[in-house]
Amino acid sequence: MKITIFGSGYVGLVTGACFAEVGNEVMCVDIDENKINRLLNGEIPIYEPGLDTIVSENLREGRLKFTTSITDGVDFGLYQFIAVGTPPDEDGSADLSHVLSVAESIGRNMEDYRIVINKSTVPVGTADLVRETIRTVLEERGRAIDFDVVSNPEFLKEGDAVDDFMKPDRIIVGVDNPRTKELLRNLYAPFNRSHERFIAMDIRSAELTKYAANAMLATKISFMNEIANIAERAGADVEAVRRGIGSDSRIGFSFIYPGVGYGGSCFPKDVRALERTSRKLGYNSRILQAVEAVNDDQKLSLVSKIRDHFDGDLKGRVIAMWGLAFKPNTDDMREAPSRKVMEELWKAGAIVRAYDPVAMDEARRIYGDRPDLVLVEHPDEALKGADALTIMTEWMVFRSPDFELIRNSLKEPVIFDGRNIYNPDMVEQVGISYYSIGRRP
Ligand code: UGA
Repeated sequence: MKITIFGSGYVGLVTGACFAEVGNEVMCVDIDENKINRLLNGEIPIYEPGLDTIVSENLREGRLKFTTSITDGVDFGLYQFIAVGTPPDEDGSADLSHVLSVAESIGRNMEDYRIVINKSTVPVGTADLVRETIRTVLEERGRAIDFDVVSNPEFLKEGDAVDDFMKPDRIIVGVDNPRTKELLRNLYAPFNRSHERFIAMDIRSAELTKYAANAMLATKISFMNEIANIAERAGADVEAVRRGIGSDSRIGFSFIYPGVGYGGSCFPKDVRALERTSRKLGYNSRILQAVEAVNDDQKLSLVSKIRDHFDGDLKGRVIAMWGLAFKPNTDDMREAPSRKVMEELWKAGAIVRAYDPVAMDEARRIYGDRPDLVLVEHPDEALKGADALTIMTEWMVFRSPDFELIRNSLKEPVIFDGRNIYNPDMVEQVGISYYSIGRRP
């Protein structure tokens, strides 16, 4: 099958590469010339395990093409995926200008039937806007060409994106006629083999499903962070509580890990956007507002602990930081808790010595050269001359460190663990003070 994907960001690139991997012909279109040139050389602009191999193999086999030509893209695929960004605008609503500009280009250049598939995370009602945009342009051109619009939200997790695409939990498709349902079913057949994962529904429900899934997961996290805050004050251990409630199959163990709050390009943006959507629809979502507020505060919970430990004075203190990415296996620092923590520490006059296995370049790109941020090439380097160690991302390499080395390197041996990766008794036995989330202080 011939597929065009507009937008070679995270979702577009993974989608394009995975469709090519199962034998389709895929053309990925992006307006960023530099990005397309890098991709043509097999260079992947993002860190995603396994993606580079699939991209370069399919590029070599000729199944995957990259171009900046929108007209070539519209001409190429029967299936036209829109996978461009929907960044938040000033009030947190999703900015649809990129999505609608692709829709306009499709309308302007199409010569025969096209199925336009929205993969970007877009508010309820966007498919109607896409349809209207294409229809208006076709009218301007005086052409009556048939087309369909479908919603097909993506549920990839960064770090597991290729696996999530190849073995999805579910394939959500919002359609308004049987023809498109069948076209989409055929397209996804290679990923729908062992049992039925294809869930077709009306378009608006599909659009809302995406936001509801992310908002539900974010709610679980904020809820658990709130329980952690209560546990701390009540002298309980949230890790015991987590095991206690997770074993109830109705609750489950996933997404109930307390920590320094959720980050990334999805949860913060999508919770906010859904809250704004519901407000525009005349409904005041108290749960979504609370999820967001709890998360904002949670990102600072570690800073309060650091401040209290040092009697409110952080001026000139050197804080080692392990982990900068918003979660392991990615170099993404969008809305990463590490950023909030670093920025607060800097405001208080502290210096941060940071290490991350893959996000160092990203940190350099975001913060540039500044005297209060020292980026080092090894976790042990971060400890040198530091007063304290903070854990911001639960990368595997941080899970079993040499605690004696930590104790001997830090001026005042103390760890502030934002991800609860250590056993408090073990750390304290070595002679290191230990603060974590929702466990005894
Ligand atoms: C999330 C969803 O998990 C995907 O299903 C969805 O497709 C994607 O957003 C999207 O909308 O594109 P992602 O942002 O890659 O994926 O990351 P997650 O693994 O969900 O983690 C999000 C944040 O929650 C991280 O900061 C993580 O540290 C935090 N988290 C996660 C917790 O604090 N506790 C948990 O128990 C789980």
